[in-house]
Amino acid sequence: MAHTLKIKSITAYLPHMNIKKNVSLQCYNSFAIDIKADYFIEITQDADYQPLMQWINRYNIPFIILGGGSNILFTQDYHGVAIYINTQGKRQIAATKSHYLIKVNAGENWHEFVRWSIAQNYTGLENLSLIPGTVGAAPMQNIGAYGIELADRFHSLCALHIATGKSQHFDKNACEFGYRHSFFKQHLDEYLIQSVTFKLPKQADWRINYAGVKKQLGQQALSAQLISDTIIALRQSKLPDPNRVPNAGSFFKNPILTHKQMHPLQQQYADMPAYPHTKHYVKTSAAWLIDQCGWKGRTLGQAKVYPKHALVLTNKGQATGAEIWHLAQRIQASVLQKFGIQLEAEPRII
Ligand code: EPU
Repeated sequence: MAHTLKIKSITAYLPHMNIKKNVSLQCYNSFAIDIKADYFIEITQDADYQPLMQWINRYNIPFIILGGGSNILFTQDYHGVAIYINTQGKRQIAATKSHYLIKVNAGENWHEFVRWSIAQNYTGLENLSLIPGTVGAAPMQNIGAYGIELADRFHSLCALHIATGKSQHFDKNACEFGYRHSFFKQHLDEYLIQSVTFKLPKQADWRINYAGVKKQLGQQALSAQLISDTIIALRQSKLPDPNRVPNAGSFFKNPILTHKQMHPLQQQYADMPAYPHTKHYVKTSAAWLIDQCGWKGRTLGQAKVYPKHALVLTNKGQATGAEIWHLAQRIQASVLQKFGIQLEAEPRII
């Protein structure tokens, strides 16, 4: 009843908005978990943000913001409003001597944007081809792959401060990007990213040193298109297509250890991967740790570890979010027991 009143009140704020009730979010999360949200709203234009936020603040409505839903695991129905961001639009807004600035609305699909940028002869995003999700979600966890991360090509973003309903400009420093981390990840549900501006180099700056990429490219003349196609082929060879095998990409972050923590482990496990991170830290491979614990390809109910990559948990079809989370926790316990390392989940668990 209380909900009905609140929902009725939205017509005063957003008279033209289509609010759906009791909506399955199965199509809005890449794990394809079939849970329901009490209410569902799709945002397609900037003008809708402010009144929506006024309504949410006025009635204290619980909400969750959905982009591509590729970094989220729902373990239960959502009692609040799911806000699906579907604002489109991308264009060059400026150019300096060395860079182009491209502004993109949050709802654009990431991979389609990357391919569009290549078709327009921009370079710099090719290594980030085929990453699922939307442009607005990309800065949250500073998406990265094959030797590059979003921060390397980032200029600024516009985000709505939900409590005040005001749009704020964030430059790169303000975003506090780190490995799969940003200011926004630390302030979940406080901001809504509306648009992102990328800074793409006029002079090509190819990054091809990641294991496997150079080999695959061979002696061919480099282009953004070729690198993108190569990355797509590489990803397809070891990562499942979320449209066929529901998943959320890497389920865990690669652990970052001090040299002191790493040293005895490497004494014991000579082939344990170690990648330079910062002066005092090294990164190791979560996939390798999980693999060593024998989880690759294993199934628990409807949840399964992808047989070609131990870092990816998949839904066999009918999995509940709780089942996937249970598998994740079992994996964490194994890795902790064998290596003394606590794996951290990458997706948001709801
Ligand atoms: N490995 C195993 N077993 C496996 C898979 C990998 O032992 O089943 C070991 C191998 O030693 C391999 C190493 O792990 O050399 C690294 O594997 P990979 O190159 O696939 O990279 P990753 O560290 O597992 C990260 C990102 C991926 C990104 C790839 C490529 C994280 C959490 N994951 O994976 O990102 O595509 O590098 O750059 O940083 C994602 O975030 O969703 C994602 C897929």
